[in-house]
Amino acid sequence: MIKTSGLCKTFPGGVTAVRGVDLAVEAGEIVGFLGPNGAGKTTTMRMLTTLLRPSGGTATVAGHDLLADPRAVRRRIGHVSQGGAVSPAVPVRDDLLLHAMLYGMRAAPARERIGKVLERLGLTGLEARPGAALSGGQRRRFDLAFGLVHGPSLLFLDEPTTGLDPQSRAGLWEHVRDLRERDGLTVFLTTHYLDEADALADRLFVIDRGVIVAEGTPAELKGGSASLDEAFLAITGLSPGEGAPSAETSGGSSSRRGAAR
Ligand SMILES: Nc1ncnc2c1ncn2[C@@H]1O[C@H](COP(=O)(O)OP(=O)(O)O)[C@@H](O)[C@H]1O
Ligand SMILES: [Mg+2]
Repeated sequence: MIKTSGLCKTFPGGVTAVRGVDLAVEAGEIVGFLGPNGAGKTTTMRMLTTLLRPSGGTATVAGHDLLADPRAVRRRIGHVSQGGAVSPAVPVRDDLLLHAMLYGMRAAPARERIGKVLERLGLTGLEARPGAALSGGQRRRFDLAFGLVHGPSLLFLDEPTTGLDPQSRAGLWEHVRDLRERDGLTVFLTTHYLDEADALADRLFVIDRGVIVAEGTPAELKGGSASLDEAFLAITGLSPGEGAPSAETSGGSSSRRGAAR
């Protein structure tokens, strides 16, 4: 479902955020992309979702070449960005309908599809509200709905539960699992929460300063460590909440570079 080779990104101005990422994700997997703040998670995801042109490397996403055919990739993927899609002042169903029609759906089938997606996410009855009248957890589930309206086979979630209370987080995890179990959806999510990675992902890639430094199932990554937290600390030299040193200064002097895969 995703295969990348040597994917990298240097921003104009010279910041290299991603330095040669190789990933492979199978259909039906939930894969976690884990790393400290500033590690390059969002940049990688923005490349994979066609929002940012890679500086180098190749990738196939949902069966299409990312660089040669980004439009085909876009039709087959859903993307829930870190900031979300729900606007505060507009009834969510109006934005959802617009969103579906931008994907080329006609109004009647779009309404039907939206109804089904909202039912699936436990949101039926809330769709007339503007974003400002929703709880954080409800808003995040509506963000998922935006990502699912056009029936993608691959869903990208960027930090899906940041800022949510524990109950809403667990609720969102349940919905993501359900989408995989019942629809065979493939999910690629970034997170800096180790409990989220542990609870949700079948497989993890750990990125640190633009480089993949470890990969495996949560159990494999834990290895001899008592917890994923301890393993993460051993791999990256950081606690999960900590930010990585900025990419601008990560040229080489770091003492934490030892944990290459
Ligand atoms: N548009 C941009 N221009 C310049 N630097 C950027 C831009 N976007 C992100 N960066 C830098 O790239 C690095 C990785 O950022 P990001 O991918 O957002 O990390 P993460 O999502 O893992 O927290 C950071 O050092 C960040 O400051
Ligand atoms: Mg990010």
